[in-house]
Amino acid sequence: MWYSATKVGITEIDMDHSNVDTMLQLYFSGRIPEAYLEQIIRNLIKHFDREEEVVAGLGREFPADHKREHARLTQLLEKRLVDWKADQLEGNELAEQVRSLLLLHVVDFDVALAKPSN
Ligand SMILES: [Fe+2]
Ligand SMILES: [Fe+2]
Repeated sequence: MWYSATKVGITEIDMDHSNVDTMLQLYFSGRIPEAYLEQIIRNLIKHFDREEEVVAGLGREFPADHKREHARLTQLLEKRLVDWKADQLEGNELAEQVRSLLLLHVVDFDVALAKPSN
């Protein structure tokens, strides 16, 4: 997943993405239990805030539409967690949804945070 098209070029942000992706890979390969999915999702939700803080720390304004998307995804992920806990969503399905949600978000929003090249 982590080829150059998904690199933001801001280390803290790329590391967060990579960590979530690695944990999902470990889940898919059976190395960590399904119960850990909640922690992975909580980390992803925390990442949205951290990403906004990191960009602010660089003295740049965080795009309003991107911030709204973080809020929307947080709500969506919270709903998926509720469904999963109520046995209305399989762990594998939840993990797949999180993986594609993260990939699409990075490509559609985060790569635009890349430092200006000048
Ligand atoms: Fe991100
Ligand atoms: Fe983002």
